[in-house]
Amino acid sequence: MAAKHLMCRIPSCLSSAISTPLKSLKPFYHTQQFVSIIRPVSTACSVGIQESTNRLVVNWKDKLTDEYPLVWLRDNCQCPACFDQSSQSRTINFSHFQVNQKFKHVATTKDAVEVQWEDGHKSAYNLEWLKQRSFNQKEQQGWLDANKAPYSTWGASFFKNIPVLDFNAVIQDDNALLDWLHTLDVWGVCLFKNVPHSLGQVGILAKRVGFIKKTHYGEEFSVQAKANATNVAYTQGYLQLHTDLPYYEYKPGINLLHCYIQYKGNGGDSLLTDGFKIAEWLRENDPETYKCLAETRVTWTDIGQENGNKFHKIHHAPVICESSDGTIRRINYSQPQRDSHMAVPIDQVENWYRALKKFYDMALDPEYLVTFKLQPGEMVTFDNLRILHGRTAFGEHLQGERHVQGAYVDWDEARSRIRVLKANKAANNSGRCG
Ligand code: OGA
Ligand code: ZN
Ligand code: ZN
Repeated sequence: MAAKHLMCRIPSCLSSAISTPLKSLKPFYHTQQFVSIIRPVSTACSVGIQESTNRLVVNWKDKLTDEYPLVWLRDNCQCPACFDQSSQSRTINFSHFQVNQKFKHVATTKDAVEVQWEDGHKSAYNLEWLKQRSFNQKEQQGWLDANKAPYSTWGASFFKNIPVLDFNAVIQDDNALLDWLHTLDVWGVCLFKNVPHSLGQVGILAKRVGFIKKTHYGEEFSVQAKANATNVAYTQGYLQLHTDLPYYEYKPGINLLHCYIQYKGNGGDSLLTDGFKIAEWLRENDPETYKCLAETRVTWTDIGQENGNKFHKIHHAPVICESSDGTIRRINYSQPQRDSHMAVPIDQVENWYRALKKFYDMALDPEYLVTFKLQPGEMVTFDNLRILHGRTAFGEHLQGERHVQGAYVDWDEARSRIRVLKANKAANNSGRCG
């Protein structure tokens, strides 16, 4: 079982399938083409065309009914002229496509529905394939949910149970890799132990997922105090809670920070707060502050030079970004990287500062903030769209060595990897049973 790789167990929060409610069928079928069949193997018991809505209707054996618009069926014809199997891509030429699709004939085989279209084209749809593409709203929601693990927010007390993984297990074992990515998806943070004491480990881990997200700070970057630092992180100063690179529209999704050398005196501690927790609390308890932070566009910026290359990044986005369905999807916060240009109506300025102050004070509240000192051999990984992180000051006058190596991975790559790993696991399991 995958969870054995966790040195510390966490509850699984993946959604489970949602059952479809029974729908009643009215007698609306195109009688001539209506086909009634009883098939012990397949799950469909009858199919037909509902002419009033231009839909194929499938009555399943479990008494559920699904409807499929003819235009969608034609668009998703699986024949070699319309769909290329090797690239798994639709190739139908949309410039010749008719939105108002008319069928001539519908029939069934043992496990498929066959449609003959008015223009003579023939399509066949596997019943199982159709069922998986149900237009029933709950089924659709189930499919959407299965493709995004719902997150669980946490406060400081959770951190005692922070998920901890063995680095080598994740490098060697796909189940452990899946555990890590799933943990990041749900909790937004995961700590690694037993990381080899050499530079390049963040790259090795990133490549286990897909590839590194390159930014103007490079692929693998060293966080060390430097003279003439190009970023406030490259000093010995206190690094206030922030998310990295809010000035990127495509902000890197996952942050990997490997502690190569830790400062031996006091300081250099890591700080973490779950930004989604703060946003959720505000949405629930202080909707005005939430609305202000979710609706006011802020300008994030980074100007400088790295390895001789000048950069000037600008991105406009609120501190709390929501998806169109109201889900909290991204937190932007960085005191140093907030532009002095403020393109908001002047009478909203003070209110916005009040809201931001409330957000930041909450993020620093011991109820939500965790502080710990990374040790050599440890790596902290977290969701950069969600978790605010920082670091306490250490040393003075560039004395006192500390070296953290970082890299980023995009969520698109990580979620893709999760799907592939899950499919491999399911295939292996079914192979074993069969
Ligand atoms: C950074 C950063 C954390 C650390 O470089 O952006 O957050 O522990 N560093 O130095
Ligand atoms: Zn076709
Ligand atoms: Zn940072």
